[in-house]
Amino acid sequence: MMMPSLAHKLACLILCILLLSKLHRCFGEEEAARSVLFEGDQPAIPLHDLRSAYAKLYQLLAGMKVQAQEVINIDAYGANSQGYQKAWNAVCSSSTPAILTVPEKKNYVLQPIAFSGPCKSSVTVMIKGSVEAPVDRSLWAGKRYWIMFSGVDNLSVGGGGVINGNGNVWWQNSCKIKKSSPCVDAPTALTFNGCKNLRVENLRIQNSQQIHVSFQSCSDVDVSHLSITAPGTSPNTDGIHVTETQSITISDSVIATGDDCISIVSGSANVMAKNIVCGPGHGISIGSLGSGNSQARVSDVTVDTARLSGTTNGVRIKTWQGGSGYAKNIVFKNIVMQNVKNPIIIDQNYCDSNKPCHEQGSAVEVGNVLYKNITGTSASEDAIALSCSKATPCHGIVLQDINLGHSTQSSCENAKWSKLGSVVPSPCTN
Ligand SMILES: *[C@@H]1O[C@H](CO)[C@@H](O)[C@H](O)[C@H]1NC(C)=O
Ligand SMILES: *[C@@H]1O[C@H](CO)[C@@H](O)[C@H](O)[C@H]1NC(C)=O
Repeated sequence: MMMPSLAHKLACLILCILLLSKLHRCFGEEEAARSVLFEGDQPAIPLHDLRSAYAKLYQLLAGMKVQAQEVINIDAYGANSQGYQKAWNAVCSSSTPAILTVPEKKNYVLQPIAFSGPCKSSVTVMIKGSVEAPVDRSLWAGKRYWIMFSGVDNLSVGGGGVINGNGNVWWQNSCKIKKSSPCVDAPTALTFNGCKNLRVENLRIQNSQQIHVSFQSCSDVDVSHLSITAPGTSPNTDGIHVTETQSITISDSVIATGDDCISIVSGSANVMAKNIVCGPGHGISIGSLGSGNSQARVSDVTVDTARLSGTTNGVRIKTWQGGSGYAKNIVFKNIVMQNVKNPIIIDQNYCDSNKPCHEQGSAVEVGNVLYKNITGTSASEDAIALSCSKATPCHGIVLQDINLGHSTQSSCENAKWSKLGSVVPSPCTN
């Protein structure tokens, strides 16, 4: 609560300013000056009753909860790793909500850094300028993250600025590009680990070393207005990766990268992606799930309103043979495909490995998947491919109101499906 004396002073001050500006403007218009003090949606207050105006303002100001928000520049303690860590510590240990800012029009080179909680109060990070990653790969010494927020509740990250992973040097050395290189994972540009009640919005994330933004073991997450870009040829540069995360909404975002636009993997439930534009890249993926005979659980995923252009897949569910668990209660709806290679695909025989994958007796169960109102063009003949497992056939697959062009075809293996409305190509004619 604000001190009454301060409210008193503020009310007087505001009233004086309003009065002066009004008298100044109304000089010579006596009638108007007498009639109103406030205009617009404020109630008109007779000029002769200043006391009531004062009382109203006083009430308003005295009743307001004014909390001083501490604002700390990222370089307040020095423009180096130790300084940035100290700036974070100051924000994180503040007993009132605090803001860490990356100032506008400034560029900071950030070495791999973890901003860890728990914090004393809610924290806002405003990236208005830009941060970029150093190009010297040895600085990572095996770390899988570049910028990580870990164990911070009630965190909000935004500001409209740029996060640039300078991934080129990592892509060149990827085993997918340079065949003589050993396959090592490159860092994720922006990682949120174990954050509850998280908001990430209005950021431009570019050229990540590998995954652009990853949510792991988080809950109650709201992601919006992200722009994520990397060349279509950059290896494994997923846009947004969701793992072990519950209740996450991703909306109003544009993602153009070299791998999945959004990938949703094990342990994730209640995932909503709405109003997403993808391409180039590999499309929107659930999976891969069940690699190395692992158990996977993904449920209640909705992708509503998306446009995919020039991607290698549209909406895909991919599982390895030999896994267990499930991917269920999934809805893909209101989706437009433009020149997409495999617009609708379930692949329960996924095998992204140098060695061939042998048939195995178990699989991650795929059930209750609705594809509704999906239209556009396919870049290959195979517009719909339901390639399910012999051991655990996929079931409850519903295709409704789909038009991917008359010159396309569909194929099915071990799929239990049904159709509603018009579906083009005709499903499962093989
Ligand atoms: C986070 O928000 C919740 C709900 O408003 C509150 O109970 C909790 O104390 C907050 N924690 C921090 C660290 O701000
Ligand atoms: C089908 O999806 C498109 C693209 O999102 C949308 O514009 C259209 O309104 C949807 N149609 C229906 C009947 O919901």
